[in-house]
Amino acid sequence: MIVLGIDTSCDDTSLAVLKDRREILSNVVSSQVPLHRLFGGVVPEIASRKHVELVDVVYREAMEQAGLSLSDVDVVAVTQGPGLIGSVLVGLCFAKGLSQASQKPLIGVNHIEAHALSIFLDQEIDFPFLALIVSGGHSVILLFTEPARFSMIGTTRDDAVGEAFDKIAKYLGLGYPGGKVIEDGAKSGRGDSVSFPRPMIDEKNYDFSFSGLKTAFINYVKKNGISDSNRSDILASFQEAACDILAFKTLKAAKDLGIRRIVLGGGVASNGRLREVFFERAETEGISVHVPPSKLCTDNGAMVAVTGHFYASLNRFSPLDIKGYSRMSWKAC
Ligand code: KG4
Ligand code: ZN
Repeated sequence: MIVLGIDTSCDDTSLAVLKDRREILSNVVSSQVPLHRLFGGVVPEIASRKHVELVDVVYREAMEQAGLSLSDVDVVAVTQGPGLIGSVLVGLCFAKGLSQASQKPLIGVNHIEAHALSIFLDQEIDFPFLALIVSGGHSVILLFTEPARFSMIGTTRDDAVGEAFDKIAKYLGLGYPGGKVIEDGAKSGRGDSVSFPRPMIDEKNYDFSFSGLKTAFINYVKKNGISDSNRSDILASFQEAACDILAFKTLKAAKDLGIRRIVLGGGVASNGRLREVFFERAETEGISVHVPPSKLCTDNGAMVAVTGHFYASLNRFSPLDIKGYSRMSWKAC
């Protein structure tokens, strides 16, 4: 089965061609980061206009790299939400056009479910599993009981963890996006130098709060200052607090629910320290941790294609009049 996967949910225009479940024939991502960096974050109106300019170019590039034409595609899968609505609609309209022109079925995909299922591009794992999806817009724990069946068991009450990384980097004038810059800046620092709070860690739920951690960081810097001599320690301590909260809550959920497998996904899952903390702690609990390679953690079309593959295998196709959503309910499409 050949699936074309399209994602335009935020600031990356991405199209991929997937053969069966694992063979990525192409996965072209055109990033708008340099454009949005000028504004310190994604500007929705600019993002959607850029998608309009790029979507056809990226489609042609993806087909050329795959060495296929539209008539070879069996299914067109596209992000239906959640995301910036103007951006989502560009990909959705483009996908509907391709589906209509080629008479190939359309599948509307939940972007967060796609982040979770991106692991299947890299390895086979058994259901059930928990997926921690951490990005600039989401910090959520999902329970997958079988393909196309999941429920949300924990989420952030305020900022997403990637948003906290981005806002702190912006505050320090380190540029956008903040995750990688902070990880690099923290490399030579000690994570236990500053004891930042772990909001909600003792509450009897699987929810997060990252706004308080961000504020604690800013207050600490205002009070104590930040310089070349303490920068890496302060950044490492912030990163340690964020990783600690995510690992603690996700492992607690896994133990409480008797789930033995955890999948990490979303841009923040490319953070090396987050991976380390999960691997170290999960091993002692007899829980396995599965993380796709970094380029499949950030937004990409291949994750949409593999999700489309699961749905097509279940004969779950979408009508041509599906809508785009900025928010979506926490269940399968
Ligand atoms: O999944 P993604 O590419 O796009 C969204 O759907 O949001 O995630 C982008 C987010 C940004 O907030 C970025 O700062 C964060 O992922 N990020 C990281 C790292 N790389 C990207 N956060 C921490 N450490 C990283 N290495
Ligand atoms: Zn994403």
